[in-house]
Amino acid sequence: MRIPIMAGNWKMNCDNDEAWDLAVAVADGVEEIEGCQVVLCPPFTALSTVEEALEGTDLALGAQDLYWADSGAFTGEVSARMLTSCGCEYVIIGHSERRGRFGKPPEDDPRLLTVFGDNDATVNRKVRAAVAADLLPIVCVGELLSEREAGQTDEVVRQQVLAALEGLAEEDILDLTFAYEPVWAIGTGQVCDAPEANRVIRLIRDLLAEKVGTAEAENLAILYGGSVSPDNIRGLMEQPEIDGGLVGGASLKAEAFCELVRVAAEVRGA
Ligand code: 13P
Repeated sequence: MRIPIMAGNWKMNCDNDEAWDLAVAVADGVEEIEGCQVVLCPPFTALSTVEEALEGTDLALGAQDLYWADSGAFTGEVSARMLTSCGCEYVIIGHSERRGRFGKPPEDDPRLLTVFGDNDATVNRKVRAAVAADLLPIVCVGELLSEREAGQTDEVVRQQVLAALEGLAEEDILDLTFAYEPVWAIGTGQVCDAPEANRVIRLIRDLLAEKVGTAEAENLAILYGGSVSPDNIRGLMEQPEIDGGLVGGASLKAEAFCELVRVAAEVRGA
């Protein structure tokens, strides 16, 4: 039986005061709900604040990225150990925004996209650094709209999953949570049809089964991300392969996010 996970990716939102208020409101709102692991992923600057706000609760703290080296001359980067020292249990790796794969580029100069430098190789290094530090990676994969329209969805996802897993021991793979986030569904209000998200997630599970065996792969939670909201969460959670959400916009509103947790627990918990 897989326990659903609802992870809030706050992206570049919330100063420390806002982060405190949001974390406390979410923690209060989900206090009575059992059967869903809640993960809050604030920006680096608010990790310690949110850690304090979550003290004594069952909610987990996650970061949005990390760098693979332990320490050194990597200005602006943050290591796995720095994250665990802030109380992180989870870390998002390979988000399409970090890979520079925006559905709609935020800037009109394409050269600026290289600022966001992740690719399959860096994602793999980051995953390996995370598991070595006992962090639980939430690994994001997903196709662009152009790739979907060209019928390349399965191949793109397959490639991203296999690249992320390269060189990992079986026991490390068991610590991974994949999130299927079709890039065109992120922040657009255009959620992927639940059966189609279910199909792609099944494909990810089949790839994991090739590495760790069918029984173990059945125990791994795999999430969907992309315009998850209180309006569509029930349909998503009713799909047998979808074990929760990686949520952007709706995770910034405590009431909406708590509703996602409540529905996930109701449909798939216990
Ligand atoms: P939205 O929920 O805002 O579409 O963002 C999804 C996402 O990118 C989560 O990582």
